[in-house]
Amino acid sequence: MKVDVLLGLQWGDEGKGKVVDVLTPAYDVVARFQGGPNAGHTLEFEGKKYVLRSIPSGVFQHGQTNIIGNGVVLDPVLFREEAEALEKSGVDLHKVLKLSKKIHLILPTHRLLDAANERAKGGAKIGTTGKGIGPTYTDKVSRNGLRLGDIFHNFDKKYEAARDRHVAMLRSMGEEPEFTDMEKKWLNAIDYLRTFDIIDSEHYINHCLDEGKSVLCEGAQGTMLDVDFGSYPFVTSSNTICAGACAGLGVAPRKIGDVYGIFKAYCTRVGAGPFPTELFDETGKLIRDLGHEYGAVTGRERRCGWIDLVALKYAIMINGVNKLIMMKSDVLDGFDEIKACVAYEVNGKRVEEFPFSIEEDEITPVYVTLPGWKTDMTAMRSEEEFPKTFNDYILFLEKELRTPIVIVSIGPDREQTIVRKK
Ligand code: GDP
Ligand code: IMO
Ligand code: MG
Repeated sequence: MKVDVLLGLQWGDEGKGKVVDVLTPAYDVVARFQGGPNAGHTLEFEGKKYVLRSIPSGVFQHGQTNIIGNGVVLDPVLFREEAEALEKSGVDLHKVLKLSKKIHLILPTHRLLDAANERAKGGAKIGTTGKGIGPTYTDKVSRNGLRLGDIFHNFDKKYEAARDRHVAMLRSMGEEPEFTDMEKKWLNAIDYLRTFDIIDSEHYINHCLDEGKSVLCEGAQGTMLDVDFGSYPFVTSSNTICAGACAGLGVAPRKIGDVYGIFKAYCTRVGAGPFPTELFDETGKLIRDLGHEYGAVTGRERRCGWIDLVALKYAIMINGVNKLIMMKSDVLDGFDEIKACVAYEVNGKRVEEFPFSIEEDEITPVYVTLPGWKTDMTAMRSEEEFPKTFNDYILFLEKELRTPIVIVSIGPDREQTIVRKK
């Protein structure tokens, strides 16, 4: 059996949570492999809406095992809030969820460091989610991190050493940290975590594969936020790409099967950093309003713009995407015309390969204009109902991206998902 991966091809918030939930019935195991509570994955079904941050989006289906893998960074306090809310709503989380011993823990002082780093950057700040993601991954790579499995091995001493190190760092930045309450809550949440199944998840997943079980990996963030290939330094601190699933779960590259790449029919970004196709006009505002483009975690306004095929092709290449999923086309249902960026102009030359820098002053997007389909598609339930103009739009994208679009999402609800057969 192979491991399939579903990941975002843009700057996050493509709709990963929704589609993971829809695909889950075809799998035995769903696993998160990177990121942490910077993610906000929204699911809607039966008139209810859920936002997941650290817990995989497979927990609402039929008893699949859900794993938080070693590549994830976990905030015990936020995990507890999320887990308790899910249990209240009827999910038997203690039964379906397993956590890797190698997960790195986000400490209260990591969050303070995240805020202090942003303050220190001044005008060049990244606009992080403030969840301590960068400092936690920094500690992991600099070999100072604290892992979930450490709670079984002389934990207090290890925690205090890490905390004191952070306090010294904060003081050297001119900060006087105060975290007594946060620390108390955090230590209580560590005890709550002890009630879960904390395992060697790399062994578990590989045993599952040996037994013929199937695994779906759920990416967080998106390829343009990848620490190596995204719009650095305005990125997150993990590998959001397909290779991240191998490192973040202990799955060998040759076990990867389908790679689902998910994108919106337009493009959004939250936080700072370059965004070549960003719209500052009424159309951008209209997309934001119709698409409810406000952050699931921070509530921040998402910046909106046209679809960027140069960036999408790059993301498809880096991830080895063989199946595309298009989200939120319904947001464009009323548009007369839709634009797609097919190239960049750099120093007067047309460039179709994603360049080193996409800063606004260095590139100009080249657009083609396509006719809108001008049809409310939100109640459609099969592709036979698609208007011709919409089918033409899909064909245009498939030709440009040289990859089939296998699923089209026409609304936030589970039911508003159409699997293409053609
Ligand atoms: P994720 O982080 O990739 O899981 O995406 P988010 O949950 O942050 O953002 C996607 C938002 O779009 C959520 O509010 C979803 O409920 C919503 N959504 C998902 N698919 C569709 C769709 O096809 N149409 C519309 N209108 N909304 C959608
Ligand atoms: P999901 O999984 C959109 C962005 C932040 C910021 C940058 C770095 O819901 O798609 P960080 O806190 O990670 O250090 O912030 O990355 N960012 C996201 N944007 N969706 C996300 O996750 C994001 N996670 C981080 O806004 O620009
Ligand atoms: Mg999100």
